[in-house]
Amino acid sequence: MKDPKAPIGVFDSGVGGLTVLKALRHALPREDFLYFGDTARVPYGGKPLPMVRRFAWEIAGFLLRQGVKALVVACNTASSAALPDLAEDLSVPVFGVLEPAAEVARGYGKVGLIGTQATVESGAYGRYVPLAWAKACPLFVPLVEEGLWDDPVALLVARHYLEEAPKDLEALILGCTHYPFLKGTLEKVLPGVKLIDSAEATARKVAEALRQAGLLNPEGQGKVVHYVTGDPESYKALAERLGERVETLYRVSLEEL
Ligand code: SIN
Repeated sequence: MKDPKAPIGVFDSGVGGLTVLKALRHALPREDFLYFGDTARVPYGGKPLPMVRRFAWEIAGFLLRQGVKALVVACNTASSAALPDLAEDLSVPVFGVLEPAAEVARGYGKVGLIGTQATVESGAYGRYVPLAWAKACPLFVPLVEEGLWDDPVALLVARHYLEEAPKDLEALILGCTHYPFLKGTLEKVLPGVKLIDSAEATARKVAEALRQAGLLNPEGQGKVVHYVTGDPESYKALAERLGERVETLYRVSLEEL
């Protein structure tokens, strides 16, 4: 029997999953979390899917060894690569970010997708929602990881990627958890288009599933422990610029995974 007082594991290639962590903390203020950013190997989006699948299994194994009661794959590339296999084989509930975003998108007429090369090429979103247009935007993740989401260079890059988007697009799925940080820039390029990010929809789904499974923590304090595979200081500085206070942070070497 899983322990309701155990933390929830959340992982991403880097800081992008912090958008999902924030929504989870809002929806589940009494839960404790372990957040894992694979910052030594970010970005995942240009890597072959079998390699990303291996990374996802390694990190899931690490978080399970720390005793998590549920796992949130807060990365579209890893969700495209490793779900549903992870969910079928692990002993804890596993949640990805694709299905919740697609569910929101199904309420709109003409839907587009932007994501990493791996996510777009995997065709995984197409399993859940018909897409009128899809575009890989490989420079967006490094721009966010470099802290340049508000910089004029981000606007130039966004214009470059989005210039061929259909003029009558109603909604655009931000198919990468890093992209919500670029929302202000994307809104300038595609005014009037609904930008769908999966964070809130995923958090709602996790909260409901844990409630139904009797796994809500009656006495957690909203603590977050962060783990990174890259340099802890630069992670802390970037996470704090993105609004996440990092109090407990450990570096994990790739050999420990
Ligand atoms: C990446 O690491 O390239 C992006 C993560 C994501 O797909 O959400």
